[in-house]
Amino acid sequence: MKPAILLIGANGQVGRELNRMLPLLGDVTALDRQRLDLSKPEEIRRAIRTFRPAWIVNAAAYTAVDNAESEEAVVSTINAEAPAVMAEEAKKTGASLVHYSTDYVFDGSKTSPYNEDDPTNPQNVYGRTKLEGERAIQASGVPHLIFRTAWVYATQGRNFLLTILRLATQREELRIVRDQVGAPTLNREIGKATANVLSQICTGTSSSFSFAKVSGIYHLTAAGETNWHDFAKAILEEATVTVASTPWFAAATNTLPLITRRVIPISTIEYPTLARRPAYSVLSNARLARTFSLRLPDWRTQLHSAFADGSLNRL
Ligand SMILES: NC(=O)c1ccc[n+]([C@@H]2O[C@H](COP(=O)([O-])OP(=O)(O)OC[C@H]3O[C@@H](n4cnc5c(N)ncnc54)[C@H](OP(=O)(O)O)[C@@H]3O)[C@@H](O)[C@H]2O)c1
Repeated sequence: MKPAILLIGANGQVGRELNRMLPLLGDVTALDRQRLDLSKPEEIRRAIRTFRPAWIVNAAAYTAVDNAESEEAVVSTINAEAPAVMAEEAKKTGASLVHYSTDYVFDGSKTSPYNEDDPTNPQNVYGRTKLEGERAIQASGVPHLIFRTAWVYATQGRNFLLTILRLATQREELRIVRDQVGAPTLNREIGKATANVLSQICTGTSSSFSFAKVSGIYHLTAAGETNWHDFAKAILEEATVTVASTPWFAAATNTLPLITRRVIPISTIEYPTLARRPAYSVLSNARLARTFSLRLPDWRTQLHSAFADGSLNRL
């Protein structure tokens, strides 16, 4: 029998992909914010008790990193308390929990990729509350997978990729931060990797996995590393090639004319934001590779694939 899966945050970048992939593995009930508001713990409890899922997959979060600085109480409710309630309820009902966290749990002082067990030291409210969410899940004793991902983008919604494409139709010059290093990760790859892991657990391949056996934190990001400036340049390169070779693209995305001629590297100090961000937050995916034989494509390949499938929305 297919497991019942409760997908929370079905309308987000990652949630949308999960909503496409998870029905291959189980009977999915997908709830967006309208159907389940994470600021109401009783709603979380009621949903879990009503649907009695074998797996809860939580893709919802308060993700507006700068706004979070002035809304700590709300952010904490969604990023820390809600996962704690999910974990508690999952434990009571015998469910397992899949949850997502962030590279921003680290302070960025390392110069080589972070491992799961490296000391955390979040620099902003978003990172702090996400870390509290992780800890609550771990402390609950529920079988869980926490996937820390980073720099997530998609072909729809609001994200760096779509912002750069929009600005490229408006400005001749873009000034983009070069001293923050990370791994931009396409939502589709997170959805695919999650489904792959769950399918391995579900079918018991390798050494008869179970959630309990593999429970823990895993880094799940694109391979390789870049910075926001080089990522922006790569986006414009992809867009230029795609516009030239694919007539439908410009019309479908409002990407004409692309007028940006220069992408100027600047430092974080020249682009002050409300939230501090780590200078280096590349995550080693070695544990994911060891445990599930899973390696995500590098960030450049992922970016190319975002342009290749024609799903970019109007900007
Ligand atoms: N985005 C990134 O760069 C990034 C980086 C590292 C880690 N992550 C983590 O990856 C996961 C998925 O992120 P994402 O990029 O898919 O984020 P996203 O696109 O911002 O989606 C988050 C979803 O959470 C929902 N949500 C927010 N507040 C809610 C509430 N009170 N009740 C119910 N739902 C609520 C949002 O609903 P609405 O659609 O109604 O707003 C949205 O659909 C999160 O755990 C995030 O922390 C993201």
